[in-house]
This record gives sequence, C-alpha cells and structure tokens, in this order.
Amino acid sequence: MADTDIKKGLAGVVADETAISKVNPETNSLLYRGYPVQELAATQPFEAVAYLLWHGELPTEEQLAGFRAEERKHRALSPVVKDAIDRLPLDTHPMDEVRTAVSVIGAIETAGTGNVLDAVGTPEENLQRSLQLFAVLPAIVSYGQRRRRGEALVESRDDLDYAANFLWLTFGEEADPVVVDAFNRSMILYAEHSFNASTFTARVITSTLSDLYSAVVGAIGALKGPLHGGANEAVMHIFDEIGSADNVVEWLDAALAEKRKIMGFGHRVYKRGDSRVPTMKAALDTLVAHYDRPEVAELYTKLEDEFVSRKGIYPNLDYPSGPAYNLIGYDTLTFTPLFIAARITGWTAHILEQQASNALIRPLSAYNGADERHIEGYVPDTAAL
Ligand code: SDX
Repeated sequence: MADTDIKKGLAGVVADETAISKVNPETNSLLYRGYPVQELAATQPFEAVAYLLWHGELPTEEQLAGFRAEERKHRALSPVVKDAIDRLPLDTHPMDEVRTAVSVIGAIETAGTGNVLDAVGTPEENLQRSLQLFAVLPAIVSYGQRRRRGEALVESRDDLDYAANFLWLTFGEEADPVVVDAFNRSMILYAEHSFNASTFTARVITSTLSDLYSAVVGAIGALKGPLHGGANEAVMHIFDEIGSADNVVEWLDAALAEKRKIMGFGHRVYKRGDSRVPTMKAALDTLVAHYDRPEVAELYTKLEDEFVSRKGIYPNLDYPSGPAYNLIGYDTLTFTPLFIAARITGWTAHILEQQASNALIRPLSAYNGADERHIEGYVPDTAAL
C-alpha cells in the first residue's frame, strides 16, 4: 500500500452525506434540516424539533397535536424495565442504567422476530420505535435519579408537555415556566450534531443491518466517555473542585501543570467556539437569576476567561449545560443521561437515514506489526492446500 495518509480519529474525514444537520465551523453555525438551532431553541417545543429531525419538516399544529397524543401513550416505565433497573446496584453509573434499560426494551420489542434479518424492521416500525424511546427515556432517567435518592417512581402527567413532564417526573412537582423553558432549550441544543462519536457509532452498527436498539445501546456506550457526552458531568465535578471564582487561577495553574483536559472546553469541529454555547449560556443566565445564584455565573465567567486567555480553547455546549442542570436540581451523575434523552432524536434520525441509503461502514487499516514469519518445524499439509 502506498505511503498511507492516516487520519487518526477520522479527523477531517467526510465519511458520508447527511441531510439532518449542518455543522459549519467557518460560520460557527448549526442547522437542523436547514433551520438555525438558535431559532428552534427560542421558538419550538422539543417535540416539534424531534418531529423535524425525523420527518425533515416542522409539524403543522395538527401534526404536532397528533405527535403529542402518540408520545403520551408511550411515556410509562413498563414493570419489566422498572424491574431490570431495580435489580441493578444503587451505585450503578446512570449511563449503564439507561443503557441496560434500552437494551431490555430492545430485547422485548424484537423478540420473536425470527432470524436476525427480521429484527431490522421497516422504516415505519423504526420511526415508531424512535418515538417510543423518545417518550419513555424521561421516565427511565428520572426514575434513576429518584431511586438513588430513595424516592418513589412518579407517574407521567398527560396534561404536561414533554419538558414540563420530564421535570415533573424527576422532582414530583410542577416546574416554574422559566425552568421549563431553559430545560426545553437545552434538549433542543443537545438533540443533534452530525457525525459526532456516538452518532457515528449508531451509524456503524446500523450499517451492518443490525437493529435500531443495538445501535442506540452502542451510541450510549460512546456518549458515556468524558471526551464526549460525559463532559457535562465532568464540568460539574470541576466546578465542585474549584468551589468559587477566587480559587480559579490557582486551580487552573495546577490543572494545566498536570496537563489535565479541562472538561467543557474544546471541540473536534468548532475551533472558534461552539455555536450552541451562546444560547445555552443565555438559558443558564435565566436560571442564575431565577435561583438567585450569582456566584455560579462568577465562577463560570472567571474559569472561561482564564482558560481562553491562556489556551485559546473555547467552551463547548457541555460547559454551560452542567451548571444549568445543577441549578435545576439534577444530580451530577444524571447530566449525561439527560444528553441521551435529547440525542435519541438525532441518533434515530441518523439510523433511519443510514437504513435508507446504506453501505457497510468498514475503513481500512495500515499494518505496522511484525513481518510475515512462520512456526518452526511446521510442514504444510499439502493435501489440505
Ligand atoms: C461533545 O463531536 C461532537 O459534535 C461532540 C458534541 C456533540 O454535540 O455530539 O459536540 C458533544 O462531545 C463536546 C466535547 C466534550 N468534551 C470535552 O469537553 C472534553 C475536553 N475536550 C477535549 O478532550 C478536546 O477538546 C476534544 C476531545 C473535545 C477535541 O479534541 P481534538 O479535536 O481531538 O483535539 P485534541 O484533543 O488533539 O486537542 C488539540 C490540542 C491538544 O494539545 P497538544 O496535546 O497538541 O499540546 O488542544 C489541547 C490538547 O491537549 N486541548 C485541551 C483541551 N482541548 C484540547 N487541553 C486542555 N483542555 C481541553 N479541554
């Protein structure tokens, strides 16, 4: 093989086309099916954005009403899935808990499909499977936090839309509209981001003609890593380590001396700032005001100013999201499961797109191991050749 131009981490490699979203580092912008994500976050309920990602168009009022009616039918945590969660140790990482729950759902939903080819499902079946996962994930994620706190499962409320119901399920009380709006915006911002590691994982699994649930379970495994989705949890650990704005300079001196990655900063594609951060920072600011926690904003700003001035590396979406979820009352370990509940829309949109125009994803590798060699004394069995 000629001198090989290896792209480690597939950095800069265009692996396929997609019509779902466009990430543009030049203009620092993100489009979902052509709409700037900032406009969607400011005007749409998350249900409408889920519909847009799956169908390519925003729903009419009638279509949104139908979508919401169908979503409500699938919100409940089934006894089998609840039992599977209850069998896990209380200190199971919530990402493993959600991954297990989705795996149980997949095993049940594809049971009896006969041979492996039948599990793949039709586009219509997979669209329905996508909606059902979208609808039930709030119950899975919120039940996980409640059981760790020793609190009982809360049943969904059909009079509440997706974001308000998610917060109801978690805290057992109706959230203030300011909090619902900030949470809704975060879900829209987290929903989709082209071929990020977890989405590409889902596409690789889908490309073998495996089923949607296997692709989602694989994506959850990829999202867990702190270089990817796990960063929003890691940002909060950093905030807790630093404590207050006064400690930032000393903490950062030590962290950089240890060559630590400062979670919530940097991005493989955006190199001059993550297009989603201004919208999520605005949502964080409304929460800081709502809960009267100015010290959170002080720490946030001090760390950002210090790190950007020293390394020229900018915040990504996980940086404002961590403190925002903390203010709302989510446990730090619940942060990345919230990312799952949002990104299930993007993952499944990509699974559907991969299925519609599939090619097995199988890159090449450049061998750099031992030269060919043979077992001493081995005499080939000429009859077998
Ligand atoms: C998400 O892809 C997506 O779209 C992901 C995502 C999505 O919506 O799906 O946007 C969500 O995953 C956001 C990223 C969350 N991860 C983090 O916040 C973890 C911290 N960030 C870094 O690990 C890093 O910035 C990455 C992994 C995000 C991107 O890294 P790259 O593009 O592979 O670049 P790199 O790691 O090679 O960094 C280049 C240089 C290195 O310095 P040198 O070793 O060359 O001297 O910049 C440094 C890095 O050390 N650097 C950092 C840093 N990010 C980059 N140094 C300290 N802290 C950081 N955060």
